[in-house]
Amino acid sequence: PLTIIFTIATMLIISPQLTLFVFIFIPVSGYIISLIGKQLKKQSSKAQQEQGTFLSTIEETIGGLKVVKGYNSENYFNTVFQNSTERFFKLSNSIGNRQNLASPASEFMGITVIAILLWYGGQMVLIDKTLDGAKFIAYMGLAYNILTPAKAISKASYGVKRGNAAAERVLEILEQENPIVSKENAIEKTTFDNNISIQNINFKYENETVLKDFSLQINKGQTVALVGQSGSGKSTIANLLTRFYDVNDGTISIDGINIKDMNLQSLRSLMGLVTQDSILFNDTIKANIALGKLDATDDEIIEALKIANAFEFVNELPLGIYTNIGDSGNKLSGGQKQRLSIARAVLKNPPIMILDEATSALDTESEKFVQIALENMMQNRTSIVIAHRLSTIQKADVIVVMQKGKIVEQGTHDELIAHNGTYNKLVTMQSFES
Ligand SMILES: Nc1ncnc2c1ncn2[C@@H]1O[C@H](COP(=O)(O)OP(=O)(O)OP(=O)(O)O)[C@@H](O)[C@H]1O
Ligand SMILES: [Mg+2]
Repeated sequence: PLTIIFTIATMLIISPQLTLFVFIFIPVSGYIISLIGKQLKKQSSKAQQEQGTFLSTIEETIGGLKVVKGYNSENYFNTVFQNSTERFFKLSNSIGNRQNLASPASEFMGITVIAILLWYGGQMVLIDKTLDGAKFIAYMGLAYNILTPAKAISKASYGVKRGNAAAERVLEILEQENPIVSKENAIEKTTFDNNISIQNINFKYENETVLKDFSLQINKGQTVALVGQSGSGKSTIANLLTRFYDVNDGTISIDGINIKDMNLQSLRSLMGLVTQDSILFNDTIKANIALGKLDATDDEIIEALKIANAFEFVNELPLGIYTNIGDSGNKLSGGQKQRLSIARAVLKNPPIMILDEATSALDTESEKFVQIALENMMQNRTSIVIAHRLSTIQKADVIVVMQKGKIVEQGTHDELIAHNGTYNKLVTMQSFES
């Protein structure tokens, strides 16, 4: 600073006119450069936002893979990704352009100052003779000294962060190969006519056997309920029916066709899946429900919401079905989320419904709402209901009681109560709780 003050003082002594000019020009050029810088900052914060959106889309999509695949909406999410990356690409391109522009711009202004000084000073020296040649050269040296730090300051004000490492890890996950794929010439099955048959299956995720020699037949039109302790393998059956995992032994077949021989997409289009943890995406209610039917009209969405007993609360929202529900639907209650998941399955309108009831305790009122939603949706359909609240499934055609991967009891509600076994015990326990 002392050097700068000294330099400026010397400059003033040598030639006040030239110095005045320098001091007018430096703020002007500083202003222009800061304009570019401001634009840059705005854009880079936009780019960071876009990156945030992109990453949360990735997180949600990976977390919600079951729904993404269960609703055959891989393509839809591909488009979402592509749009986001494209926006990001455009932004970073324009940031790059500006960055490249900013540095030559400040260079250019520095040179302009010098050039004008040379020209003006030259006139003073040669034509007006108001300035001595040697003094002028000394002056130029001083002016250059002042300009260099000014340039450095303006240059230092740009910078865009990158998240390359994070992106690489995400790519690793995305590029992982899936062992479960459709066979060549797989059977395209579009209707469900007779039954689903699970025959003598064994299954383990890792080392521990989860399902042992498990068999079950589900006829068209039936409602079959699976009940049993936590960890008894209920959700696993849903995972196997939708082929998120393949059985180790035995077969699962639909109308006599092994599901491994069926085209994966056609298998999944036969089934509507409501997962245990309602999987929702940061988007509007409409977009979340329409996953099963991308071209659904607003009326169809509303119809599905009504069946799922969710229209009332959606209707009260300020933007109705166009309301954004936040990251993973965190602006909604548990029961509301569940009813939206049900609406999604209803809209898809598949012949087979698989409902994995949420374990998290809903209060009695929202439980009632969900209960009505479930009953509406099971009508005239084949349903597999995994229930934690036994009150939900008293009307089921068959109740299957599971324990450690095996069926211990099977029958209607009345039969099982009369049998006075595990089911009866579970029912008694639950009626104590509530
Ligand atoms: N992805 C997985 N990887 C490894 N083990 C798993 C996986 N999913 C479940 N398991 C194990 O398999 C067993 C059965 O789990 P499952 O989810 O089928 O139980 P559940 O009957 O649905 O229980 P809950 O009533 O709590 O939902 C459990 O012991 C669980 O730890
Ligand atoms: Mg479960």
